[in-house]
Amino acid sequence: MRGRGARLRRHGIVSGIRHFIGLDAFEPTVLRHMIERAAELKRTPETGQGALAGKTLAMIFETPSTRTRISFDVAMNKLGGRSIALSPGELQLGRGESIGDTARVLSRYVDAVLLRTTSHDSLLQLVENAGVPIINGLTDRTHPCQLMADVLTFEEQRGAIAGRRIAWLGDGNNMAATWIQAAAQFQFSLRLACPKAYAPQSEILEWALARGADVALTADVRQAVAGADCVVTDTWISMSDDAGKQKIEALRPYQVNESVMADAAADAIFLHCLPAKRGLEVSEAVIESAQSLVFDEAENRLHAQKAILLWCLAGDS
Ligand code: CP
Ligand code: NVA
Repeated sequence: MRGRGARLRRHGIVSGIRHFIGLDAFEPTVLRHMIERAAELKRTPETGQGALAGKTLAMIFETPSTRTRISFDVAMNKLGGRSIALSPGELQLGRGESIGDTARVLSRYVDAVLLRTTSHDSLLQLVENAGVPIINGLTDRTHPCQLMADVLTFEEQRGAIAGRRIAWLGDGNNMAATWIQAAAQFQFSLRLACPKAYAPQSEILEWALARGADVALTADVRQAVAGADCVVTDTWISMSDDAGKQKIEALRPYQVNESVMADAAADAIFLHCLPAKRGLEVSEAVIESAQSLVFDEAENRLHAQKAILLWCLAGDS
């Protein structure tokens, strides 16, 4: 387990296969290239036409998805390939066939596999057994495809993200963890305001701090938001989370509302990966305000997904 993690952390490429598992697995220059490529594909979509002709992506969703499923499907189509979306119940996986055997079989048919799972370890088992690239379509630990779209969204509106200040408010969940990894890889400053009981994974925080990332955790919303160029939040109850009312009550003081946005920089933007629960983690007024870029962010999943697919499958570097 330790050896596998270390190998994946050193590089996104294992045994010559280009996996997209976590932002921490990459050299920052590779991620930077993918962001530039995504921006180029947004400006001139025709540059990707036919690049993945004849390629098939299998997508396995243990939990629901609107953006990830549809943006990857459309991205594959626009690049000339195709995708197949599956749930475990449609596969023998749902009747107990192992992830290892599933990976070995799928690798004989398709060119890449995306997995959305409530267990990050399932994703690593897929990587260990697959002969094709594996893409992290969200786990209980991270959501790297989303962060690529988020960086793209910030940069197209506000310029380079390096050196800028981002504030995360709310649950220290998989998105918070991925923002922490992104702070180290894209060199921005990140302040997270989370209740102690719902702090981000300490191992990911330590990883970022060991790389000299400017990341700090606080319980004070005002401190986190002061002067921020971007305020981010996410649902208080994630798909892998069985928490209930008590967690919601603990998180209420961390809602992004107009009063919170007033403490950020005057031109601060608001991001949320969606789906959102209006009135909980974000007020209706903020998500509908001119500062909110959540639908550009959702659109940018498509452009970011294309860049990831081209890196995994077409040798983009
Ligand atoms: N943001 C995101 O991943 O959305 P979906 O759950 O709809 O894929
Ligand atoms: N943190 C959320 C993100 C959804 C895209 C979840 O895991 O459910």
